[in-house]
Amino acid sequence: MSLHKHTPRIVTRTHELRLALKGVREGGRTIGFVPTMGALHEGHLSLVRAARAECDTVVVSIYVNPTQFGQGEDFDRYPRDLDADTQRLSDIGVDWVFAPTDTEVYPPGFDTWVQPGKMAASWEGKCRPGHFRGVATVVLKLFSMVGPDRAYFGEKDYQQLLVIRRMVSDFNLPLTICPHPTVREPDGLAMSSRNAYLSPEHRRQARVLSQSLFWASEQVASGEQSAEKLVTGMRQIIAKAPDAAIDYVAIVDPDTLVPVSTVTTPVQSLLAVRIGGVRLIDNARLIPSASP
Ligand code: PAF
Repeated sequence: MSLHKHTPRIVTRTHELRLALKGVREGGRTIGFVPTMGALHEGHLSLVRAARAECDTVVVSIYVNPTQFGQGEDFDRYPRDLDADTQRLSDIGVDWVFAPTDTEVYPPGFDTWVQPGKMAASWEGKCRPGHFRGVATVVLKLFSMVGPDRAYFGEKDYQQLLVIRRMVSDFNLPLTICPHPTVREPDGLAMSSRNAYLSPEHRRQARVLSQSLFWASEQVASGEQSAEKLVTGMRQIIAKAPDAAIDYVAIVDPDTLVPVSTVTTPVQSLLAVRIGGVRLIDNARLIPSASP
């Protein structure tokens, strides 16, 4: 395990990375991997710290994957600052930053895709057609390029986490997926690179997302079992933000993402809301007090 903080080495080519990691693998040392699209915040850094604590070598990828953005989404304006990101990582002691180019990931003639099934059909998958196909394809490629033992994902993108777990299991990929809790701002807003798009007024209004989740969590802990009542109450809280437009608010089974009507065991609440046109997602586990 490397004990010293140092500037990570940046590689852009898969063969360079493979060569660099060959010795690590042959020496029986473990590789921890955090895939990102850059614009790193505390949420990412908490994943990197976990990888640093649990693995001998840490690789962070920074790649804004075009194929997971739909038409009219924010691909062009997605924040990109490799120097600032690398600086943030050097404080934690990351070994390698893998920053591939588009042609490295999608060379001319690229024509093979991962099409996730049922897990990707609802919620984000419905609102953003093709999104999870792009995510699953790039994540499979990154796994194959890096060859990690452990890969770290935030629970903030809950459905993404489930889609990737499914893929890892379905394709017998030889790695462990390590989920980590959502990191929140002091007022509850889940950390996200897209928060940077919010105006000060919309940033203030965005608190309704976590407020609605915290409210639902308290309701369930104190005995509320009706998913319909929970969704109605959450919608009312979100509607207090004048510029909020809801894509979905749902109470679902945490493993299948199928909506539940009665909450007697732990469930997941998922939501996607646009605040002044900025699309944010968040989720929380709701646990009935008497549940195991
Ligand atoms: O969660 C993200 O940042 C992206 O979806 C990922 C996993 C890096 C794939 O591009």
